[in-house]
Amino acid sequence: MILVTGGAGFIGANFILDWLAGNDEPVLNVDKLTYAGNPENLAALPGDPRYAFALCDIGDRRGIDALLSRHRPRAIVNFAAESHVDRSIHAPGDFIQTNVVGTFNLLESVRVYFSAMGPGEKAAFRFLHVSTDEVYGSLDKGEPAFAETRGYAPNSPYSASKAASDHLARACFHTYGIPVLTTNCSNNYGPRQFPEKLIPLMIVNALAGKNLPVYGDGQQIRDWLYVSDHCAAVRRVLEAGRPGETYNIGGWNEWANLDIVHAVCGLLDEMKPRPDGLSYRGQIVHVADRPGHDRRYAVDARKIESELGWRPAETFSTGLEKTVRWYLDHPEWAARVQSGAYRDWIEKNYGARNE
Ligand code: NAD
Ligand code: DAU
Repeated sequence: MILVTGGAGFIGANFILDWLAGNDEPVLNVDKLTYAGNPENLAALPGDPRYAFALCDIGDRRGIDALLSRHRPRAIVNFAAESHVDRSIHAPGDFIQTNVVGTFNLLESVRVYFSAMGPGEKAAFRFLHVSTDEVYGSLDKGEPAFAETRGYAPNSPYSASKAASDHLARACFHTYGIPVLTTNCSNNYGPRQFPEKLIPLMIVNALAGKNLPVYGDGQQIRDWLYVSDHCAAVRRVLEAGRPGETYNIGGWNEWANLDIVHAVCGLLDEMKPRPDGLSYRGQIVHVADRPGHDRRYAVDARKIESELGWRPAETFSTGLEKTVRWYLDHPEWAARVQSGAYRDWIEKNYGARNE
């Protein structure tokens, strides 16, 4: 069996659903269920004998030790993290606690678990640490995309905390011989993404008749990858990646934020026209920029393609349409996650940003 941390979040939930759709190997989902962890993402699974859930913090040594000795996973995929850059600007301590201290404690538990294995089990074991392209910092226009050899230069508390966790994972390979794999992926989008991130926020705000808040001039560039493509890449790295290596994952798909927001509005105009017949584009407003906002990310994904044969399958136009369709088809999901705590966050992040 495999142990997945953070499996109630956006990517982790998609990963578990895709894994069990193509595979009978059981999954144990270990999640603390923060505001971003939503058991409803996996509502189809309770009762499935291949799936188990444990409510546990990755930083809880005793809890993780007990789960490892009870379930004896042959691999661990670590998705658990605080993941939102804007929240890391308002409250960086949570990011240090989970992404740095939590990952460290998880690795300590894994070190003890690994050291007691026989040689065959050790050779087969994998710890796959899921990370981000943001650890590499920001690119100027025309600069080559991030390759695995690029130096780390994180610029936000979020990316700094992820960078620290990558270094801790790397050290476990070099110092203790634990077969660690690290993946650094670009911006994901798709079903079940919490509406604090750009694409789902724009969809839910547009449908609610609210402003579509674009930070600064909206010309910041991100590389976008459909979530199932990221999940397929993680499966492939788990299966065939070389221990100690890092693999960049990206969509070869750079977009300026403002163009993304226009694309979302264009889809909504076709799929769910506004009652007044006007375009959702009229709801776009430019608001104060994110402090320290990275200007551009781009991922050079040639290593995973040439070594492991992975390439994205989804195009941006089909992926974005599927995503908008999913939110249109799941209004209750979106309504439920926009709870009191969500409204407090929206007020904290957007209340003080003047148009
Ligand atoms: P998310 O915020 O949607 O989900 C995070 C999950 O981790 C939640 O279920 C939450 O409850 C759980 N969690 C948080 N702290 C925990 C703790 N201390 N112990 C156990 N569980 C905990 O995040 P996501 O967007 O699904 O991202 C998953 C991973 O992928 C993160 O490591 C993130 O850095 C990385 N990543 C995300 C993207 C992206 O675009 N979303 C891109 C590249 C990499
Ligand atoms: O690059 C990978 C990273 O992508 C992941 O590691 C992070 O977990 C994930 O959150 C994401 O980070 P970003 O900061 O790029 O994603 P976000 O959706 O928050 O913002 C995307 C861009 O849109 C960014 O340039 C900021 C901008 N933005 C975002 C929001 C929420 C806006 O203009 N307005 C907004 O309201």
